[in-house]
Amino acid sequence: EKGGYDHFMLKEIYEQPKAIRDTLSPRVNNENEIRLDDISITKEELDRINRVYIIACGTAYHAGLLGKILIEKYVNVPVIADVASEFRYGNTFIDENTLMIVVSQSGETADTLAALRLAKEKGARVIAVTNVVGSTISREADDVFYTWAGPEIAVASTKAYTTQLVSLALIAMQMATIKGTITEEDYSGILNGLNKLSKQVKSLLEKEDLVKEAAKEIYNAEHIFYIGRGIDYDVAREGALKLKEISYIHCEAMPAGELKHGTIALIEEGTPVIAVATQEHLYEKMVSNIKEVKARGAYVIALAKEGNEDIEETADSVIYIPEVIDELTSVLNVIPLQLLAYYVAVMRGCDVDKPRNLAKSVTVE
Ligand code: F6R
Repeated sequence: EKGGYDHFMLKEIYEQPKAIRDTLSPRVNNENEIRLDDISITKEELDRINRVYIIACGTAYHAGLLGKILIEKYVNVPVIADVASEFRYGNTFIDENTLMIVVSQSGETADTLAALRLAKEKGARVIAVTNVVGSTISREADDVFYTWAGPEIAVASTKAYTTQLVSLALIAMQMATIKGTITEEDYSGILNGLNKLSKQVKSLLEKEDLVKEAAKEIYNAEHIFYIGRGIDYDVAREGALKLKEISYIHCEAMPAGELKHGTIALIEEGTPVIAVATQEHLYEKMVSNIKEVKARGAYVIALAKEGNEDIEETADSVIYIPEVIDELTSVLNVIPLQLLAYYVAVMRGCDVDKPRNLAKSVTVE
């Protein structure tokens, strides 16, 4: 049932090229246009929407962070992304002019479901991005966008995350098209980028041995720090969550520029730092941050784009990701981060598919 893989997690990591194709192909027609039959929102409704909430937990929340960036940029409406258990008990500004997007692999997460019900009660429209057909969240939302990742068995979420990223990009593009807020150039740039992802993920999976080497360098660590800026910080958070939940090593993700405001005090000789440096306009800033931690003795594994080989002068080990627009880098960056988490956990003898204290579907609040 594990298809020759040692664990479901590894199998699901390797299923990502197909999962991404399956998310995309029903929604991109032969004329290379995005057509989402799943979402029936009209231009009139969209014009009324003055605030979007993206609500989720854990990995799904990390995917939601990309939705915020894309919707704010291309649909030109303010977006609040929050974890469901915080959102519910805070001050919420929800009315008929609010759109809520809930993201949940299982479609059963208690806090996310409660957020959906709260939004509906106040008259908001709710779009669910979920992987499970017929799940409670899918039944209660106004529109359901399935990620079509196939069943995810391992507790640590992998293919759900990458397909959630792709789904949120499609939803943002669709909304921007309906509203007329995206240029032809941006639209085709993103669509072409999406179409290339599946092959690019496949090419990254072939770098497994390189990631294994990196895992050997860090698997005995007590603390591991992840740094990035912008979208790279969001994927850093996902990488840190993945590693901590299955290896039990304390991992923390930090916005790279925030390090010097406290956390850098924890960097000692040999402390591993995973630096994600794939946002073109933030690259130089990231290189400076890597130098800062190197100067304190950190062992740095960097993720960088092909073409930025000069990073080898600063980082101890580099994993390159292929050419991709900045908005879609997370789909690629997360692949080595997932593999790194997996191999570190295996090297530590952990129960990868069933980490202690965790459940696949969290139906308690
Ligand atoms: C981490 C992980 C969890 C889930 C979270 C939300 O690998 O799997 O953080 O992402 O419990 O679950 P869903 O998406 O089912 O609502």
